[in-house]
Amino acid sequence: MPPARDQPAAFVPAAGRHGLTALYDPVVALTMREERWRARVLEEVQRPSGDPPVPVDRVLDLGCGTGTLAVALAQRLPGAVVAGVDVDPAILERAAAKADRAGVRVEWREARAGRLPFAAGTFQRVTCTLVLHHLLPGDKIAALRECRRVLQPGGRLVVADWGRPQDPVMRAAFFGLQLLDGFGPTGEHARGLLPARIAAAGLRDVRRVERLRTPAGTLEILVAERS
Ligand SMILES: C[S@@+](CC[C@H](N)C(=O)[O-])C[C@H]1O[C@@H](n2cnc3c(N)ncnc32)[C@H](O)[C@@H]1O
Repeated sequence: MPPARDQPAAFVPAAGRHGLTALYDPVVALTMREERWRARVLEEVQRPSGDPPVPVDRVLDLGCGTGTLAVALAQRLPGAVVAGVDVDPAILERAAAKADRAGVRVEWREARAGRLPFAAGTFQRVTCTLVLHHLLPGDKIAALRECRRVLQPGGRLVVADWGRPQDPVMRAAFFGLQLLDGFGPTGEHARGLLPARIAAAGLRDVRRVERLRTPAGTLEILVAERS
């Protein structure tokens, strides 16, 4: 039987469990070297792409969570339209409050990653940070295909997410995160399959531009271009 319309669809929430969302921002700041990788993501968003270079005036942050990156994007790109999409309506309220406190405008939308409410070619950049490891393999590829669809030719996807642990210490660290977020969604990350999944979604020049050791495992920044 299909779920009743007022029941939220199943998803892995930001902190792995409903009710822990208030802890999300401090936990990420303390355990995931947040400042370093968010700065690198912003750098990749601002790095020119396309020939001739495409001006960046529409950016999507997919799985925006508490809105930290979307707010930073709006601050960095004052003339641009920034959209933040998440499946969790409660977390979008937190994100909107964060944007209000920062005095920036972000278009918040509740939607699933596999079915984005935007026309093809809407954005020059899509960011997707710490989201794909929440999705089961079929949903992951559907989300990546949607990223490609909503990107303009010459646009860029910037992903920050968990990669194959580079040593036993990182493997043990990532096991803890897998216990929280689930082995189904995180398994392909432990096996280092994310770059291949991005390429399989039709994006080209998939490159790892950063790999960080963190107390929660090996965090990678991947970029890919839209032909
Ligand atoms: C770990 S949080 C990351 C939040 C944010 N991107 C960041 O960098 O802090 C993962 C987010 O993905 C969202 N999410 C999970 N499944 C989703 C789906 N199918 N579609 C859209 N968002 C989803 C969760 O609600 C959560 O806010």
